[in-house]
Amino acid sequence: MQNKLSKLIWVPSQSVLDEELKWIEKQIDSIGVKRLEQLSTRASKQRDNAYVPYSGYKVGVSLLTTSGNIYLGNNAERASYSETDHAEESAITNAIINGEVKKSGRKFIKAMAVSHKENTAPCGRCRQIIAEHCDNALILVVNTVGKIKGITSLKLLLGYAFTPSDLGIK
Ligand code: THU
Ligand code: ZN
Repeated sequence: MQNKLSKLIWVPSQSVLDEELKWIEKQIDSIGVKRLEQLSTRASKQRDNAYVPYSGYKVGVSLLTTSGNIYLGNNAERASYSETDHAEESAITNAIINGEVKKSGRKFIKAMAVSHKENTAPCGRCRQIIAEHCDNALILVVNTVGKIKGITSLKLLLGYAFTPSDLGIK
């Protein structure tokens, strides 16, 4: 089917997907398998610190910055539910509190390992929060004992995103 709107359909082309795959492979090479495994182990260990009396669902995160630092985060629930801190946002807040924006600028996220259960990725809200601090990042989906179960990118998880650049922020 072809009509005057066909050309306006926003679906990533095969070449865009191929480029993204190449970008992911390049990131894995440049960070190194050892470092990524270390990042993943730390995410699963951090999971133990989750405070989850309501859901019982623990999440641990470790974040690698462009400057090479690692920051950790876990979820912390509140009786009111909606005030819950997600692990991904805690790791990002942790990085900011420790001066990472001053050190590396707004776009300080290079990679993030998330340890939920098997094959579970950050929620939509966390994807948006990650987008505040990078143009793209490697996302490692890690199981509860730190084994890498999947590797993707923020761009793939948050397509056609609304980002700071839409507000003229560099
Ligand atoms: N949770 C996270 O920490 N990160 C996510 O992106 C998904 C959800 C937490 C929030 C809550 O404590 C529990 O997992 C169940 O939703
Ligand atoms: Zn979340």
